Amino acid sequence: MKELFLKRQSCRNYKVQKVGEKLLNELIETASLAPSARNTQPWKLYAVTKDQVVIDGVREGVQPDGANKFADNVNDFIVIVEQKPWYLLDEKERGKHSDFVATDIGIFTAHLVLTAEKMGLSTCILGRMNKEVVKKAIGLTGEEVVSLVIAVGYKQDDDILRVKTRKQGKDLVEYL
Ligand SMILES: Cc1cc2nc3c(=O)[nH]c(=O)nc-3n(C[C@H](O)[C@H](O)[C@H](O)COP(=O)(O)O)c2cc1C
Repeated sequence: MKELFLKRQSCRNYKVQKVGEKLLNELIETASLAPSARNTQPWKLYAVTKDQVVIDGVREGVQPDGANKFADNVNDFIVIVEQKPWYLLDEKERGKHSDFVATDIGIFTAHLVLTAEKMGLSTCILGRMNKEVVKKAIGLTGEEVVSLVIAVGYKQDDDILRVKTRKQGKDLVEYL
C-alpha cells in the first residue's frame, strides 16, 4: 500500500490520450466498494468521456480564472455529485445524525485515485471550479451539488515523481 501511496500524485502533466468508457467503468466499479456512513453511498458519478461538448464544458468549469491550465490536455473527467442520504432527508431521523456526505465522498475519492494509480492511470482531484458551469455541462438543472471533479488520464513520459511533504511526528499523531 505504501508503495502505491508514494507513487500516486496529483498529475498536472497529461498526454492527450483518451482513457475511454471501458477503463473508467472498471475504475468506478472498483472504487464504489468504498465504505460510507450507513452504507448510504451519497454520490452519483458522471463519467465524462463520450461527448466532446460535455468534455469541453466540464473542462471550462474546472478552469475558472485560468486555473488548472493542465486540464487542457485532459479528455476524461469523473464528476462526483452529492446525493443527500435518507438519514438527512427523513423527518424523524433528521437532527439525530451528523452529516457524513463530505467524509464519504472523500473516502470514495481516495479509493478512486488509488485504484486509478494501480491501473496505470493518473489523476488530479479538482476542487477549484465553477460548480454551476460543471453542473450545466453535465445537464443538471436542479438543486444537485457538484462535490469534486477528478481528471483522469495518462501522465507524460517525462513526468517526475515528487517527494511527498507530509506532517510528521507530534504534528501528525500523539500516542496517548
Ligand atoms: C479536495 C481537494 C481539492 C483539490 N483541488 C485541486 C485543484 O483544483 N487543482 C489542483 O491542481 N490540485 C488540487 N488538489 C490536489 C492537491 O493539491 C494535492 O493532493 C496535494 O497538494 C498533495 O499532493 P499530491 O496529491 O501530489 O500528493 C486537490 C486535492 C483535494 C484533496
